[in-house]
Amino acid sequence: MRDRCARNITYLRLSVTDLCSLRCRYCMPADGVSKRDHRDVCSVEELAEITRAAVDCGIRKVRLTGGEPLVRRGILMICQGISAIGGVEELCLTTNGVALSQLAGPLKEAGVDRLNVSLDTLRPDRFAYMTRVGRLDDVFRGLKAAEKAGFTGTKLNVVLMKDFNDDEISDFVDLTRQYPVEVRFIELMPIGEGRNAQFLPARAVLDACPDLFPAETSGVARRYRPPGGPGLVGLIEPMSHRFCADCDRIRVTADGKLKPCLHSDQEIPLRGLHGEALRRAIQDGIAAKPERHHMNETGRSEAGRSMHQIGG
Ligand code: 5AD
Ligand code: SF4
Repeated sequence: MRDRCARNITYLRLSVTDLCSLRCRYCMPADGVSKRDHRDVCSVEELAEITRAAVDCGIRKVRLTGGEPLVRRGILMICQGISAIGGVEELCLTTNGVALSQLAGPLKEAGVDRLNVSLDTLRPDRFAYMTRVGRLDDVFRGLKAAEKAGFTGTKLNVVLMKDFNDDEISDFVDLTRQYPVEVRFIELMPIGEGRNAQFLPARAVLDACPDLFPAETSGVARRYRPPGGPGLVGLIEPMSHRFCADCDRIRVTADGKLKPCLHSDQEIPLRGLHGEALRRAIQDGIAAKPERHHMNETGRSEAGRSMHQIGG
């Protein structure tokens, strides 16, 4: 359905847990987050019910996020339930890749169509530093397992950070010269722990690799191609190139609150609602979607939660 700015809302990002197997410095507090009582997060059945109602309101694409969706108990049942809903044309999942070496095959069987893997550095020492607890090799093994399981169109999400990975831009772009992969550089947003790291504008990618040439845009990403290479480079620029006018998404947090906009503190509780009441709440949320965020003017997000509590 269309919101009041005539944007067609077709994309639902559904967080299935606040928990994560990593502790990225710009996302999670050092000591992690305390585990909620499992009754505080939506059950497998509730997630399917919310998705069915969202499909009735025009949603066609669903992405499972977290935290880290692969640490959620029942994740395969969640995927099976959602992929079986008629009207869900694409089921995607964003993961840190750590558990993919075990789960890639089962996820494919459970109906997941595509994966985004978050990976901010290609250097083992930096990965260990940034994630506080992670091993880069696990992610590499996960990526290989995903390919072997038959996943295609996997995207790598790289959050750009000054003095952390600005010297690795060319290495990431080189992947697109060799492999049919899309590397998406994402501008750091001043949300939650995000204020702990340093912003780097996405145009740094074009400065580092001036041979990239423009390709068709896709959703909120401006895209480029490496000459002669099979891959793509995407730039996601919430800060320097506000894309709110093209926003096609809504979010639901793990505790069942509809967030019409990532950067607004407006939340609509969905738990306990069924049938027509649930559909009406989702429609009201879409109708209430703010026109745009104000991060570039104010330097901060009004999200009211951290990224691991919303789902990126
Ligand atoms: N700014 C931009 N991206 C972020 N992510 C987490 N925190 C931030 C932030 N402050 C990213 C993760 C992952 C996705 C879920 O969101 O790196 O790719
Ligand atoms: Fe986990 Fe992703 Fe946050 Fe890192 S950025 S701590 S992988 S949710």
